Amino acid sequence: MRVPLVDLAAQEASVADDVLAAIARVGREASFILGPHVEAFERRLARDCGTARAVGVASGTDAIELTLRALGIGAGDAVVTPALSFVAAAEAIATTGARPVFCDVEPGTMNASARTLEGALDRARSAGLRVRALVPVHLFGRCAPLPELCDLARREGLWLVEDAAQAIGARDEIGRPAGGAGDAGCFSFFPTKCLGAWGDGGAVVTAREDLADRLRRLRAHGAAAPYVHAELGRNSRLDAVQAAVLLTKIDRLGAWQEARARIAGRYRAELARLPLVLPDEPAAPAAHAWHAFVVRCEGRDALAEQLLEQGIQTRVYYPVPLHRQPCFAALDPPRLPVAERACESALALPIFPTMSDAQQAHVIEQIERFFRS
Ligand SMILES: Cc1ncc(COP(=O)(O)O)c(C=O)c1O
Repeated sequence: MRVPLVDLAAQEASVADDVLAAIARVGREASFILGPHVEAFERRLARDCGTARAVGVASGTDAIELTLRALGIGAGDAVVTPALSFVAAAEAIATTGARPVFCDVEPGTMNASARTLEGALDRARSAGLRVRALVPVHLFGRCAPLPELCDLARREGLWLVEDAAQAIGARDEIGRPAGGAGDAGCFSFFPTKCLGAWGDGGAVVTAREDLADRLRRLRAHGAAAPYVHAELGRNSRLDAVQAAVLLTKIDRLGAWQEARARIAGRYRAELARLPLVLPDEPAAPAAHAWHAFVVRCEGRDALAEQLLEQGIQTRVYYPVPLHRQPCFAALDPPRLPVAERACESALALPIFPTMSDAQQAHVIEQIERFFRS
C-alpha cells in the first residue's frame, strides 16, 4: 500500500469545484491585484487570529522579512531564532541586513522557550551584538510557549515576531490563536501547509495599525500614495487568485484540523509502547495544528528506509540545524545540543486530512515490525 507523506491531490480534489468557481470570479471581475478578494481574505484571517489587521504578502518568507523591516530592523541589529526550523526565518533576518543568532530548543517540544532564548540573548550580548527581536517558530504546528515569550520580550524591550508558518489554527497555552500573541504573526500558505494556496502566498497578522500600514506600503514598492515612494519596498502582494483560493478553503480548515488531530491521537496511542519519542498533545485550551507528526528514535535512517520499502513516505525535518548550514558558516556556530540531536533522530510520519484508517494502520504495523526485528 502506498502512503505518501502528504496527499495534496486528494485534499485539493475535495475542494476543487468551489476553488475553481472562486478563481473564475476573479477572472470575470479582472480584479487581479489586491482588491476585494485579498481584502476579504485579510479580514477573515484577522478575525480568526483575533487581531485587528492582516496584510497578505507573496510568501511566508516575505511575511517575516517585511515585518522585520517594518519594525525598523536592519544592518547592525541581531535577531534570535531557533536553530531547529526551516531556513526561512533565519534567511529573512539575514536579508534585512541583521544578524541571525540561533538558540537551542526544548527536548520535550522541540520549540524555543524563554530559557533557550535567554541563553542566546546572553551569548549575543556578550559578543556586543544589539538584539532587537525574537522570532520563535511554532514548529510542526505546536505553539512555542507564548506567555513566557511575551514576558521575556516585554522585559527585554524586544519585538516578538511569531513564525506561525506551520501553525495556522493552533492555539497557545492560554487559548490564543497562533500568530495573535506577539507584535506580529507570520503565515505561509505554501500548498502543503494546513491552509495551502494553489501556489505561493503569505500574510502577517498584527494588532498594531502602524505596523500594518507600513507593511502595506512595503509590499507595494514603498508607495504611500500612487507613484509617491516614501521608502523602498518591493512587489510582494498576495495574489488575488490565491486570496480567492484561500478564502474558499479556510472554511474547511476546522474539519481538516479535526482529522489531523484524530490521526495524531491514534499514532500517539498505538505507538506509545515502542522505543520512540512521540510528540505530546498540549493540554486544552492549547491546540496543536499537527502540520507534521515528528517522532524521534535511534536508527531513524534504517526506519525510514524500511518504511519506504513498504510504500510509506517519511521525511527528515530537519537534517541540518541552521547554525550548521553552509550559508551561516561565517557566524561562528555555537553548540546547540538539543537541536543537533533532533536533526539526527527526527522523522516525520505521514499525516494529512484524507489519510484513511487503512493507510494509517499500514504505517503503524510497519513501524511495529521494524522494532520487532
Ligand atoms: C517554519 C517556516 N517558516 C517560514 C516558512 C516560509 O514560508 P514560504 O515557503 O511561504 O516562504 C516556512 C515554509 O516552508 C516554514 O516552514
